[in-house]
Amino acid sequence: MFDTTHAHITTWAIALILFFVALGLHNSGKEKARKIVHMTLRLFYLLIILTGALLFWKHQGINPALYGIKALAGIWIIAMFEMILVRTSKGEKTGAFWVQFIIALLVLLYLGLRLPLGFHPFA
Ligand code: HEM
Repeated sequence: MFDTTHAHITTWAIALILFFVALGLHNSGKEKARKIVHMTLRLFYLLIILTGALLFWKHQGINPALYGIKALAGIWIIAMFEMILVRTSKGEKTGAFWVQFIIALLVLLYLGLRLPLGFHPFA
């Protein structure tokens, strides 16, 4: 958990899947199931932050600025998960939040893969 990114990748990959499942359930009018999936997704927010924070505390000394931006972008996308799901369930507009979601995701993938642990397709 402190030196490999496997647990962290597992948590955010499951969260992404749950997010799209929740949207799909909303679109097909299954509100009760959407609520359950949404609550499960909220548990995964905590797991993403926990696994990310464990990596962060141990390794941020390597490059505090980039690690800091990585962590903030992680919190940012979690806020976007929540804004998009809550606003969609209320029938409100979500366009601006989707733009931020895509930007945060690109920043996260780039920084996560560029930083020293785990996979390095850009190095
Ligand atoms: C949905 C949200 C998040 C996504 C999609 C995400 C994505 C990623 C990716 C793609 C990696 C690289 C994995 C690898 O190279 O094996 C990574 C690593 C990492 N993430 Fe996240 N992350 C998220 C949230 C967070 C949060 C909230 C934090 C901090 C509290 C965080 C801190 C870290 C750290 C410290 C690393 C290791 C960087 C390294 O040295 O390679 N992440 N993340």
